[in-house]
Amino acid sequence: MARRSRLRDVLLASLLGPLLVLLLVDSALSWWTSAQLANRAYDRGLYEIAREAALHVHATPSGPRLDLTPAAERALLVDQDDRMALRVWSAPGTPIGGDPALEAPAHAPRDARGPRFHTGMLRGEPVRIVVAWLPYDEADPSRQVLVQVAETLGKRHRLAWEIVASIVAAQLVLIGMACAAVFWGVGHGLRPLSAVGSAVARRSHQDLSPLETEGVPEEVRPLVDEVNALMLRLGATLDAQNRFVADAAHQLKTPVAGLKAQIEVALGEDDPDRVRHSLAQLYVSAERLSRIVQQLLALARNEPGAVAAVHLQAVDLEAFALEICMEWAPQALRRSIDLGFDGHGSPLAIDADPDRLRDLINNLIDNAVRYSHEGGKVTVAVRLHGDERLLSISDDGPTIPAQERTRVFERFHRLVGGRTEGSGLGLAIVSEIAALHGARITLQEDHDGTGNAFTVHFPPPEPPGPARV
Ligand SMILES: Nc1ncnc2c1ncn2[C@@H]1O[C@H](COP(=O)(O)OP(=O)(O)OP(=O)(O)O)[C@@H](O)[C@H]1O
Ligand SMILES: [Mg+2]
Repeated sequence: MARRSRLRDVLLASLLGPLLVLLLVDSALSWWTSAQLANRAYDRGLYEIAREAALHVHATPSGPRLDLTPAAERALLVDQDDRMALRVWSAPGTPIGGDPALEAPAHAPRDARGPRFHTGMLRGEPVRIVVAWLPYDEADPSRQVLVQVAETLGKRHRLAWEIVASIVAAQLVLIGMACAAVFWGVGHGLRPLSAVGSAVARRSHQDLSPLETEGVPEEVRPLVDEVNALMLRLGATLDAQNRFVADAAHQLKTPVAGLKAQIEVALGEDDPDRVRHSLAQLYVSAERLSRIVQQLLALARNEPGAVAAVHLQAVDLEAFALEICMEWAPQALRRSIDLGFDGHGSPLAIDADPDRLRDLINNLIDNAVRYSHEGGKVTVAVRLHGDERLLSISDDGPTIPAQERTRVFERFHRLVGGRTEGSGLGLAIVSEIAALHGARITLQEDHDGTGNAFTVHFPPPEPPGPARV
């Protein structure tokens, strides 16, 4: 089963991912900035302790000496958060007191201006260390000792964490609000779609009126338009079906009633000759009825909606038309009609559904043979015109008046005063089949001035390719 995705989940996932990455990057940056800030805040205090320590250095004839009582040391170096250490040097490499665990600074030039801060290790713990040359003799400020004070990072880390935590907390609240906004926004934004959904759901299957487009947002409009277009197509198909059922009922009622009446007459006859005569009449009527049924079914089979059922294949129009033409020879002969074939001379391919193409040609030749006067001439011609493949059937029958040339293609339309029987469906079927083949059909007066020329213009076949179905 295909996984169903909810727009809301997709949006949330695509929003939350980048936001969380952003939060991580931002937290790392905030941690770095906060650590800088914490250092800046506590370094000053560390330097103050170094200066204070320098006050406990006194000048003696043998050089500077550190006089730090335990009480003074405690006052200087005891902190409730961190452990501290102090070491004083009269010159690099010459310690005069303090914690021997504090190693000599790697680089402490005498002319350095102000204190220098760096991080280091003291008894396996990371520490922040200040290194500064400080005067110890008020009388001669140029006499200086090197003071080192180290402090573990406890309060610095705590301050940095507090800053990061407050930033991250604010950002988490923002992310939560963004998610809530997406949740609400998607629900709100999709409301028009749900409205369209319930408008369709509320409908009865007979209601094919278009959906309301007033107030429908631009994005949903194509969907509503497509649904409305589908309704129109459905409506047209339903109309066609209803029309067909009504036509069929109307067309079949009279001949069936006629058949019944003829059977009743035949049943009342005693004379075998008259019975045979009635049966012969019955046969003619049944055949006429069978023709009407066939034509009605052909009409239904070739409705414009049947396009999906059409199986186009490459057909040689020349050979196909010649074959059908020969099938009609006996019937033409019976009416002394000169049925001729005027071919292109070589195969002429079209894309066609053979059964339907046969119906089309049969109907046109049937009309030509049926409506031409006895001894007339009917010609079936196949030729190429540009890239169009033309099939034309010309006859010697009564010329169809110009004003009737479109109407003869309508269902059940027959010319007034026609002598022969017919249901008036043949040309309607022909034009339906032509449309299913993408062909157009024209009707002109035959070029010899008597009769008609029906011409079907077939498009060239499509080149073979994987896209064809
Ligand atoms: N070749 C033709 N020559 C003269 N009139 C024609 C010709 N073809 C068609 N018609 C006229 O057009 C009308 C419609 O033809 P169509 O083929 O649709 O119906 P039909 O021949 O009457 O009945 P069906 O073909 O269904 O048995 C015919 O009744 C006839 O009057
Ligand atoms: Mg006909």
